[in-house]
Amino acid sequence: MERRKLITAALPYANGPVHIGHLAGVYIPADVYARFQRKKGREVAFICGSDEHGIPITIRAKKEGVTPQDIVDKYHAIIKKSFEDLGISFDEYSRTTSPKHYEVSQDFFKILYKKDCFEEEVSEQYYDEQAGEFLADRYITGTCPKCGNESAYGDQCEKCGSTLSPTELINPKSALSGNSPILKPTKNWYLPLNQYEKFLEDWILEGHKDDWKPNVYGQVKSWLQDGLKPRAMTRDLNWGVPVPLPDAEGKVLYVWFDAPIGYISFTQEWAEKQGKNWKDFWQSEESDLIHFIGKDNIVFHCIIFPVMMKAHGEYIMPTNVPAFEFLNLENDKISTSRNWAVWAHEYLEDFPYQQDVLRYVLISSAPETKDNNFTWKDFQTKNNSELVGIFGNFINRVAVLIHKYYNGVIPQGDENADEVNEIQKTAHEIEQFLEKFEYRNALTSLMNLARFGNQYLQVQEPWKTISVQPEKAAASLFIAAQIAVALAHLSEPFMPFSSDKLLKMFAVDKVSWNDISGVLIPSGNLIEDAFLLFSKIEDDAIDTQIQKLENTKSNNQKSNPKAQAMKEEINYEDFSKIDLRTATILEAEKVEKADKLLKLKVDTGIDVRTVVSGIAESFTPEEVVGKQVMILLNLAPRKIRGIESQGMLLLTTKADGKLSFVTPDEPVDNGVEIG
Ligand code: MF3
Ligand code: ZN
Repeated sequence: MERRKLITAALPYANGPVHIGHLAGVYIPADVYARFQRKKGREVAFICGSDEHGIPITIRAKKEGVTPQDIVDKYHAIIKKSFEDLGISFDEYSRTTSPKHYEVSQDFFKILYKKDCFEEEVSEQYYDEQAGEFLADRYITGTCPKCGNESAYGDQCEKCGSTLSPTELINPKSALSGNSPILKPTKNWYLPLNQYEKFLEDWILEGHKDDWKPNVYGQVKSWLQDGLKPRAMTRDLNWGVPVPLPDAEGKVLYVWFDAPIGYISFTQEWAEKQGKNWKDFWQSEESDLIHFIGKDNIVFHCIIFPVMMKAHGEYIMPTNVPAFEFLNLENDKISTSRNWAVWAHEYLEDFPYQQDVLRYVLISSAPETKDNNFTWKDFQTKNNSELVGIFGNFINRVAVLIHKYYNGVIPQGDENADEVNEIQKTAHEIEQFLEKFEYRNALTSLMNLARFGNQYLQVQEPWKTISVQPEKAAASLFIAAQIAVALAHLSEPFMPFSSDKLLKMFAVDKVSWNDISGVLIPSGNLIEDAFLLFSKIEDDAIDTQIQKLENTKSNNQKSNPKAQAMKEEINYEDFSKIDLRTATILEAEKVEKADKLLKLKVDTGIDVRTVVSGIAESFTPEEVVGKQVMILLNLAPRKIRGIESQGMLLLTTKADGKLSFVTPDEPVDNGVEIG
């Protein structure tokens, strides 16, 4: 019997929409694989859903001033729809806030607990007394002990890249209240990963040396070389699946404990609806489990989740974990916070009915072995010269010629011609590549068959032979039709929308992968009218997209990450109390024994005053005489170094740290109000 295929795709966090990086590195490859496996006739469960717990969700909720549930409801719907619209053929797309998932993940925890798989440990964790909450690592900021960056997070310093633990931070502050947190003891349950090192070494390092991707194998190896430590599977948080133990009030399952169990609970939800047995996929030696993930998820899918399943005892281990590298956008790292991304739902709005173009381009630039790059120009070129110029062009020529010469009826030809063998050869090649997760090569094989078709027509020239050797024209169009229909079948995993359209155009039914060989459309069959499968993408559509990114870039540049947060709001009355005027500096001299101060005489338009100002490190006295400035006139006078200062000049700080006067951009009279 054929082995069952249990195919999972990393659960996207429901804290934002999905972008082309997610699609290229996880969802499209997984979908191509699932569609191919189904076409091979294998029983497939293709499982995914939204990851709705974890700190990224609560952070987003705080930022938007709504509840975590609001956030996940909103993004789950957007993500789910994008996947559907792009033809990602999940058998189940659920969510980790579903009741079934709570039940399954709690049961899983209880089984490990009963089997004594956890180590209980009391440790001191940071606690925000004002907020009454333990603080997740991301909610603690402070000074990085390695580089001195003052806004490092409890788990990582983004400036120097060091991995940190919250207690390493100097001067820790809670992001919830801004207060210094206190250390408070709390009990958590740890999975002793260290006890599974031997198992992991045998299973992965010995057992999958040759069939796992080098990037995945290498990462696992280096983790094992560094030695594994027990890892907490519970957290003191109020958003997540509650820990199902009596003495665990206020604690939830670690998000990386509950999320991968989502694969299991969603399979159960699906199996119930389908009348299938989920255990045939998860607990059967006749099943292959394949996790599609991005490279940042390797440790969770190759170490932590397998150890969880091993500890449980009834689960199969993943057969393979094809992890992809990252996709860049226009040579810059994709970033949600900088809005540097092409969002799936926006693409679908801007390019409706062109799902396959995105699928094609993302497969052809899949970040298989190293990071890859998406550019809009490349997108346009691939569409115009490959999809329109090669694939679409070939199909169109075949269909148009058959209508023109034979009223749409497939003519007579040699069923055993050599060219027909190309079809089976291509199917075989694609299969070999897909089984090794080599998508770009697989797509090249597909396109090579279209190229072959074009060359064949070019050599045969049925438009010439039709009048002098009609049987030869017929034979060549018979063969061309076989190739066109083969492309319709073979393209299904990659470009399902176009494949469907092509099958309709040639009025043929779907066949299974193994039947894609030989004669695929017999002589005498009538085909439908020809239509254009792909259309040219013009420069202005591309320019619009590039412009959109340019705008993002300039917005990002305008925003200064070091700028202070806005002060408390005031009303107009508060503002109107401030008497700001234009004035001119008449005289300036250094204040003795004070390096920073200059004593100034200032013409305010209504009087001449003395002002002491801390500008001596930025200006010499000569430089400031004659300058027009802005003065806060009604600030209560105060004595500075024995001199009464009667007002304050407005200044700002330049990037080099030196001060700069705020002045009108053209000279005005003194004493004019500002506001
Ligand atoms: N939400 C995680 C991420 O986006 C992936 C979770 S995969 C699972 O990185 F295995 F935990 F489900
Ligand atoms: Zn640092």
